[in-house]
Amino acid sequence: MGSTLITRIGTLVTNDPTLGDGGPLGRIEDAALVLDGGTVAWAGRAADAPAADEVYDAEGRAVVPGFVDSHSHLVFAGDRTAEFNARMSGRAYSAGGIRTTVAATRAASDEALEANLTHYLDEALRQGTTTFETKSGYGLTVADEARALRIAARHTEEVTYLGAHIVSPDYADDPAGYVALVTGEMLDACAPHARWVDVFCEKGAFDGDQARAVLTAGMARGLVPRVHANQLTHGPGVQLAVELDAASADHCTHLTQADVDALASGNTVATLLPGAEFSTRAEWPDARRLLDAGATVALSTDCNPGSSFTSSMPFCIALAVRDMGMTPDEAVWSATAGGAAALRRTDIGRLSPGARADLAVLDAPSHVHLAYRPGVPLVRGVWRRGTRAV
Ligand code: NIG
Ligand code: FE
Repeated sequence: MGSTLITRIGTLVTNDPTLGDGGPLGRIEDAALVLDGGTVAWAGRAADAPAADEVYDAEGRAVVPGFVDSHSHLVFAGDRTAEFNARMSGRAYSAGGIRTTVAATRAASDEALEANLTHYLDEALRQGTTTFETKSGYGLTVADEARALRIAARHTEEVTYLGAHIVSPDYADDPAGYVALVTGEMLDACAPHARWVDVFCEKGAFDGDQARAVLTAGMARGLVPRVHANQLTHGPGVQLAVELDAASADHCTHLTQADVDALASGNTVATLLPGAEFSTRAEWPDARRLLDAGATVALSTDCNPGSSFTSSMPFCIALAVRDMGMTPDEAVWSATAGGAAALRRTDIGRLSPGARADLAVLDAPSHVHLAYRPGVPLVRGVWRRGTRAV
C-alpha cells in the first residue's frame, strides 16, 4: 500500500492540541493529511504538504477522526418494535425487556448472529464509525455468553464480557447462584475472549455488592472494568466504577454531586449515551455539569434493540449538542478522542502523526455541521487503517 495525500480539506479536526489552532480539537483550516502504512504520516496546511503516491481531493470538505463507538450491544437476534411502540404510548422502559432479546439470541444460529452483527457494523461504518466496542449479555448461559464473545472478537478487539446484564431467567429465584456462575464457570469460559468486564448496576439488575463481586472477579482474570451506571436511577454504580478505576462509567443519567465529583477526580471516563434517553423518553444526562466539573466525557450509541436502536454517532452528536449542553466542538471531541479515552487507547481518536489512519470525510465544510444538519447523511468517505472503506 502506497502513501495517500488527502488535500484541500476545509477544516481538519486532529484532536491534537499541539497542532493548528492549539485548542482541544487541534483544528487546521485549508489542511492536508498524508496516510502511509495504515497510519497518519503528516498533518498540516495543504500549501505545505509533501508529495504522496496517490492524491484525494477533498474539495473543501471537513475531515474528522473516525468515530470511536465505545459502547454497543451488537450480538443479538430479533427486535423489540412492540416494546418501543408501547413506550411511545407512555409505558416506561425497564431492564425486563432484555429477556425478550435473550430468548431470541439463544434461539439463533452462530451464522445468524454474525450476519446481524456485520449488518449493523456496516451501517455504523457508513456513518463514520471506525472503532467499536461490543458486549455479550443476551446469552446469559455459559455457552451463549462465550459464543457471543467469540463472534464479536472476529470483528473487534474491544470485546466486553457482560454476563451480568440481568439475572438469567433460569436463575430467577436464585440471583446469588447466578452471580456465582458469572464470577465462576462463565468467567472461565469468557475471559479468554474479552478485554473488558461490565455489569448493569441498577435496580432490577445487579446491586452494588453484586456488581463489585462481578467486576473484581473479572479483574482477577485480567479483564478491565467498565460499568453500566446510574442509567435509570441514582445508585452506587458510578462511585464503584471510580473506586475500581474502571475505564468508563456508562449512561451517568442520574448523578449526585458526589458522583460528579468522583468522575471529575478519577480516571474513569463518563460515557454518555443519548440514544438511550431519546429512545426511552428519559431525562438527558447533564454533559455540561460533568464538563464544567472537569470530567472526561465520551459519547457512544449504546446500539441495542431495546433501549437505543441507533448505530449513528452523528445522531448522538446532534442530540448531545441540542439537549445535553455540549458545544459542537465538545461533542465531536467526545465522539472521537473521548471514545478512545474510554477504551484506554491512544492510537485512535486523533489524526496526528503516528495515529491510526481512521477518518471520515464530511459533505460539509466543518465538523460543526454534524450537529447543525441533524439527520442528514454527511459522511461522504471513510478511511480505515489508511485504506478507503466507504
Ligand atoms: O445499555 N442498560 C442496560 N443495557 C442496555 C439495554 C439493553 C436492552 O434493553 O436490551 C443499555 O441501555
Ligand atoms: Fe448498554
